[in-house]
Amino acid sequence: MEKAGKLWEVGTGALNPKVEAFLSSLAVDKRFMEVDLEGSAAHASMLGKTGIIKSDMARSLVDAILEMLEEARAGKLEVDDGCEDIHSFVEQELTRRLGAAGRAVHSGRSRNDQVALDMRLYLRKAFSDAQHGILTIMDSLCNLAAKHTESMMPSYTHLRRAQPSTLAFHLLAWCAALERDYGRFKDASIRANECPLGSAAVAGSGLPLDREAVALSLGFARPSRNDMDATADRDACTEYAAAASIFMMHLSRYCEELILWSSSEFGFIEIADDCSTGSSIMPQKRNPDVAELARGKSGRVFGALMELLTIQKGLPLAYNRDLQADKEAVFGIHDSLNSLFPAFVALINGLKPKTANMAKALDTGFAEATDLADLLTSKGLPFRDSYAAVKKAVAIADSKKLRLKELDNADLAEASPFFKEFGIDAAKLGYWLEPLACVSRRKHVGGPAPERVKEEIDRLKAFVKACRME
Ligand code: ARG
Repeated sequence: MEKAGKLWEVGTGALNPKVEAFLSSLAVDKRFMEVDLEGSAAHASMLGKTGIIKSDMARSLVDAILEMLEEARAGKLEVDDGCEDIHSFVEQELTRRLGAAGRAVHSGRSRNDQVALDMRLYLRKAFSDAQHGILTIMDSLCNLAAKHTESMMPSYTHLRRAQPSTLAFHLLAWCAALERDYGRFKDASIRANECPLGSAAVAGSGLPLDREAVALSLGFARPSRNDMDATADRDACTEYAAAASIFMMHLSRYCEELILWSSSEFGFIEIADDCSTGSSIMPQKRNPDVAELARGKSGRVFGALMELLTIQKGLPLAYNRDLQADKEAVFGIHDSLNSLFPAFVALINGLKPKTANMAKALDTGFAEATDLADLLTSKGLPFRDSYAAVKKAVAIADSKKLRLKELDNADLAEASPFFKEFGIDAAKLGYWLEPLACVSRRKHVGGPAPERVKEEIDRLKAFVKACRME
């Protein structure tokens, strides 16, 4: 193929090849091929309807663009690597196929609004992939939770046993954050739903473009509101990266928990064989690599957010070539999330909770101590006094290697006169301090009682279903 000239190389000398190689973005923005063609078709059609170009010229442009789109989708559109970027390639190819009509397609637009449009169209898919990925994880977590509303385990603060909880309650804590993550992607996608095309280079075009028509034909809510902002703005990328970073921070925490829980020190869950790997030297090992790599990939996503913020922070309005570097960041996040979602869902679906071990972890550590203090408080003792009485009871139980519910009345009397005074008999402690009883009495909104957790699972399932239908 003959070496391509730059769109702007009219009456200027050729670029130094080393500079040319540095500036080229084609290797990266090739990925915009389909969205660039979709935007070009809408633009060409509008040019015809407004009379900016002749209608038969517009028709031949749209036909050629749709033909290229079909070829691109079939993987049959060969890209000329000599082009500066994807926008240049599309115009060059249209010119090669149509002659004058190809040279007319750029009427009233600049690559600055074109690339801003391409990114918005691309982000639509990226936002939607993230939202659907999150829903799939939530769905899997709800399915697992539904089987474990009474599977007892400790909750932790400071990574020390805190209060009795259930596996389902813990998984729903993950879902609560994931629901917010879903909302963050959705909110950002609504803000991104404006069409920058027609803003041209920075201050619009003098041609009588119909920006509303283009915006609507491409499925946007409206044209962007300020040409200068539209060509300078990368908020949609930044918000995508920010939402992805917060999501990855959450996922990374859950991965950390899965890694801990699956260790022999905890022994709370088993990771399915097809989701764990072996060691090349230690024959006995199974490693939680999916959770580890997902945790590790958060670094790449956070890095991309930092990259986007840094690219933009010192830029005077409007377009500067620095903005070309936004794509690697966005594509990197999109690829990371898309490779992670199916593997993480497989990991969740393959988890085998070891419920007996989880429950056993409540045998030591006095996770039911708050419940004993609550019992005294419910009889009228100020909480700080209840706290002191139970603290003493815990020390006695600890020294006798007993659980709190195994203390007798003499032990309680030794701990504090308040037990007797407030009518707490050792014989009743067995029932009161049973972990499932502790959890079941927490029936308040947001609490771990199995009946509340079941309601919350139903609500989340309905949420997932409704979001999937949107
Ligand atoms: N490849 C460029 C980018 O991705 C396209 C816009 C070029 N605009 C310009 N004025 N040089 O940002």
